[in-house]
Amino acid sequence: MLQELKEKKLIKNNQHSDYKLKYFVETYGCQMNEYDSELVGNILGDLGYSKSTKIEEADAIFLNTCSIREKAEETVHNRLDSLAYLKKKKKHLIIGVLGCMAQNLKDVLLESKPYVDVILGPDSYRKLPEIIKFRNSNINHIVDTKLSKHEIYDDLFPSRKEGINAWISIMRGCDKFCTFCIVPFTRGRERSRSISSIVKEAKNILKSGYQEITLLGQNVNSYKTPEGDFPILLDKLGKIKSIKRIRYTSPHPRDIDEDLLKIMVKHDNICNQIHLPLQAGSSRILKRMNRTYTKEEFLNLVDLIRKYIPDCGLSTDIIVGFPGETEEEFQETLEVVSKVKFDTAFMFKYSSRPGTKASHYTDHISEEVKQKRLQTLIEFQQNISLMNNRKRIGLNLDVLIEKESKKSANQWAGRIENNVWVIFDKKDGYKIGDIVNVNIIDAQGISLFGNIN
Ligand code: 5AD
Ligand code: SF4
Repeated sequence: MLQELKEKKLIKNNQHSDYKLKYFVETYGCQMNEYDSELVGNILGDLGYSKSTKIEEADAIFLNTCSIREKAEETVHNRLDSLAYLKKKKKHLIIGVLGCMAQNLKDVLLESKPYVDVILGPDSYRKLPEIIKFRNSNINHIVDTKLSKHEIYDDLFPSRKEGINAWISIMRGCDKFCTFCIVPFTRGRERSRSISSIVKEAKNILKSGYQEITLLGQNVNSYKTPEGDFPILLDKLGKIKSIKRIRYTSPHPRDIDEDLLKIMVKHDNICNQIHLPLQAGSSRILKRMNRTYTKEEFLNLVDLIRKYIPDCGLSTDIIVGFPGETEEEFQETLEVVSKVKFDTAFMFKYSSRPGTKASHYTDHISEEVKQKRLQTLIEFQQNISLMNNRKRIGLNLDVLIEKESKKSANQWAGRIENNVWVIFDKKDGYKIGDIVNVNIIDAQGISLFGNIN
C-alpha cells in the first residue's frame, strides 16, 4: 500500500524528496540513433530523471529503434516482449518506443504490445516532457510520429557519454530514395542545422574535454544552408585548431566533389578517412538501386579521392543479393572491392523493407544464395583488410588514445587518422586524450599493434 501511494505521488510530481525517478534508454542501429538517445537523455534529465544502468530499476524505459533490416526489427520485438513482466511489477513504469520502428510500425506495436505506453517518431522527441506529464494523468497510449520538414533540434543538446569522441548531428533525413532503403520514409526529408549553431556546439564540446568530433547525418554531405554547404561548414570547423580530429559520416558518393577534398587537404585536423558506401559493383544493379552512379563513376571517384589524399582510409557498405543480382553481377562487386581495397566494409544481405520500391521487385534472391554470397564477400574483404594493415607494419603513425584496451588493463586502444584501431602498451607521461606516435609492429584482422615511440 505504501509503495502504491508512493508511486502515485511520484507519478504526479515526477520527483520525490527521497526518490529520484530513473530512466533507461537502449539504442539500436546507427550513430544517429546513438546521438538521439543522448538527446532524449538530456530531455529526461531536465525532467528530473537520472540515468539508470539497470533496466529493472528504471521508471521509464525507452527503446530507440532501427528499421533498416528485418533482423533489427525482430530484435526489438523480442526485447519488448521480454519487458512486459516489468510492467506487471511496476504500475507506473513507462515503456516507450522511439525512432524508426515507432515511425514505421506504430500500428503493429499498438496492436501486439498493449503495454507500450509511448510511441515517438524521430521528429517528436521535443514533445517528451508534455507527453510524460500527460501519460502520468492518463492511461491511454500516446503516439506521435508526425514527420517534420523543419525539426533539426537546433536548440536541444545531447547528454553525451564521457569519452574522447562527441557526435554532432548536422542534418537529418534523406531525399535520395535508394530503392532498398526505408530511411527516407522513417526519417523524412533532408534538413540542415545552421553553421553558426554547429560551430557553437563544437566550441562548447571542447570545453567539456572532448578531443574529436564526428559530424552526423543520414546524408551528411548533402548538408545545405543559406550560409553555405558541407565544404564551407568543414572549412569553418577545420579552422578551430583546438579540435584535434574531425570526422563525418555517412556521405553519399554523389555529393563528394573536389571542393570537399580540397578542404580535407587544407586542414590537418580533418581526418584522412571517408566512408564511401558502394552498395553494389554492377552498374545495372546500382541503377535498380537508384544509387545514381555507375561502377566506373565510383572507381573514378576513388581515384580522385586518392589523387588528393593518397593515404585516405576508405570504408564502405555493401548489400549482397539485391533483387535480380546474378552471379556475374555479384562477381562485379568482388571485382570493385578488390580494385578499391577498402580498409573495412559493413556487409549485409538484402532485406526486403515493406513500402520501398525494391520490395515490389519480383525477382528476389533466395536466402541460401544471399547467405553464400555474404560469406564469400566477408572472407574476401577480411583478406584485403589484413593486407592493407600489414602494409602499415613498420610505419610510425599518430594515434589518439581513446580508451583502455578491452584485452588488457596495461594497454590502450586508439585510432589512427584513417580510422583503424591500434592497441599498444601504456607508457608513463601519457593519458587518454593525448595523440601519441606509435611504431606499428603487427597486424591482426582489422586491428594494428604497436609501441609508443
Ligand atoms: N537491406 C540490407 N541492407 C540495407 N541497408 C540499407 N537498407 C538495407 C536493406 N533493405 C544498408 C546499406 C546502408 C547501410 C546503413 O545499411 O548498405 O548503407
Ligand atoms: Fe538510405 Fe540511400 Fe538515403 Fe543512404 S542515401 S539513407 S541508403 S536512401
